[in-house]
Amino acid sequence: MVQISTKRFSDKNFSTKTLVVFVQKSGNKMHALGADQDVAELIEELHEDGFAMSDLKKGVFLRSVCDSHFRHLLLVGIDDKLKSLEDVRQLAAMIYQKLHANKADKAGVVIEGLTKNFKSLPDLASAFTQGAALASYEFKKYKTKKKTSDKEKSESKESEITEIFLLLSKKLNEANLKKGVLEGTIISEAICFSRDLGNTPGNLMTPELLAKAAQDGAKGTKIKVTVLDKAQIKKEGMGGLIGVSLGSAVDPRFIIMEYKGGAKSKKPVCFVGKGLTFDCGGISIKPSNGMEEMKFDMCGGANVIGTILAIAKLKLKVNVIGLVPATENMPGPLATKPGDILVSRNGKTVEIDNTDAEGRLILMDALSYASDLKPAAIFDAATLTGAVVVALGNSYTGVFTRDEKIRKRISAAAETSGEAVWHMPINDHHLQDMKGTYADLNNISSTKGAGSSTAAAFLEVFVGEGIPWAHFDIAGTAWHTGQRINYCPKKGATGVMIRTFVELAKSYF
Ligand code: BES
Ligand code: ZN
Ligand code: ZN
Repeated sequence: MVQISTKRFSDKNFSTKTLVVFVQKSGNKMHALGADQDVAELIEELHEDGFAMSDLKKGVFLRSVCDSHFRHLLLVGIDDKLKSLEDVRQLAAMIYQKLHANKADKAGVVIEGLTKNFKSLPDLASAFTQGAALASYEFKKYKTKKKTSDKEKSESKESEITEIFLLLSKKLNEANLKKGVLEGTIISEAICFSRDLGNTPGNLMTPELLAKAAQDGAKGTKIKVTVLDKAQIKKEGMGGLIGVSLGSAVDPRFIIMEYKGGAKSKKPVCFVGKGLTFDCGGISIKPSNGMEEMKFDMCGGANVIGTILAIAKLKLKVNVIGLVPATENMPGPLATKPGDILVSRNGKTVEIDNTDAEGRLILMDALSYASDLKPAAIFDAATLTGAVVVALGNSYTGVFTRDEKIRKRISAAAETSGEAVWHMPINDHHLQDMKGTYADLNNISSTKGAGSSTAAAFLEVFVGEGIPWAHFDIAGTAWHTGQRINYCPKKGATGVMIRTFVELAKSYF
């Protein structure tokens, strides 16, 4: 991940290899925003030479244009449409990509050029940091390195962007700028941590290893991590989590992460994430084509782990608990079979008519565990249904709740985080469709259609009376979003909803 920092920008003693300058047209003129005289003159010359503003929108990299405190110049055109923090994230990602393509290893950004459009400098700096840092993410851990000659080594070193500085002019408040960069860095690091967990294949990301990753990630923070093993999970009465794990040779885990940043008297906010480290469907086995993608079925869990890490590192004054039921779903000899009946942690019985609808079975136990903690609210994230991908594709996360207040809270949080969510229906008809023939509930719907809503209605049964709850179905947004958003990778895990969950936690101050 590229490092973002701040540097004081004074004409005499500052130097950077590449200077990034925002340019805006007003009337017939082009203005270099917040830049010094040298740059202003250069831009005037360019304009006189017939350089069109439209060219600047995507960024224009000018090599070796100056010999003083910078050498190369990246000009980026902006206009009044640049309004939201999400615009800033995407702008920063574009800048990172342009610098990367031009092998510009160190760059200073005249961030002042953006300040007039934004009220809060920390928010602007945080969003810029997120966009650049998240765009720089790569998952190369399992690619063996080519042996390179010393010459090649020094060349390839040059191609990595090592640092981006946000340049501090006299007008900007250093503490505010630094505060924003720190927040943006913490959030981006947590997202990249979760992306790494998601991208790691099933053989190297078993429930045990996922739990270890949570423990390792929490080192040096105030988070208390407790991991329940198979015997303890049984003792808890988590019949769903045990039932799903039976066909696998590896044992399940139940991961608990507690962070107490608020007053003792304050109820915790609970985040629950589906941690299915590989879902082949079990006995109701999935087709081979694309099955490898089911290593991502633990992204809800990974992103809840990232959420708790981010909240703790940001030192937010809230009490939060992350819960991640983790298991494989495999068709081994002891596997749960269609028709089997499992008993959930809260005593309700469930007939399993399709072993591939396993997410709801591990979540039902986690939701009942969460409810016993008497939380202020429960939010869960799960790659739960293929149906949500049919409904919403890979742009929007589907959100299900019947609680009006929570719905508004989520809309506000997502507005700030810039993550796209879409509220989906959930009502008593959906619940009716999940009633069982031989048990209290069936794990699949008795009717066709609305598969994401019926799944959500099933989950709702396990949420304690009166506890505000919302379910986020991230099956379409957790990975392979095709770089619809330029700071997310084309392929691989996105870390979706971490930013929204952090915002939600903030709303409980
Ligand atoms: N993990 C899958 C859901 C999924 C599918 C996520 C495709 C991302 C992409 C889940 O466990 C599952 O298999 N759900 C079934 C439920 C059905 C059997 C009721 C599904 O959606 O097909
Ligand atoms: Zn499944
Ligand atoms: Zn699944």
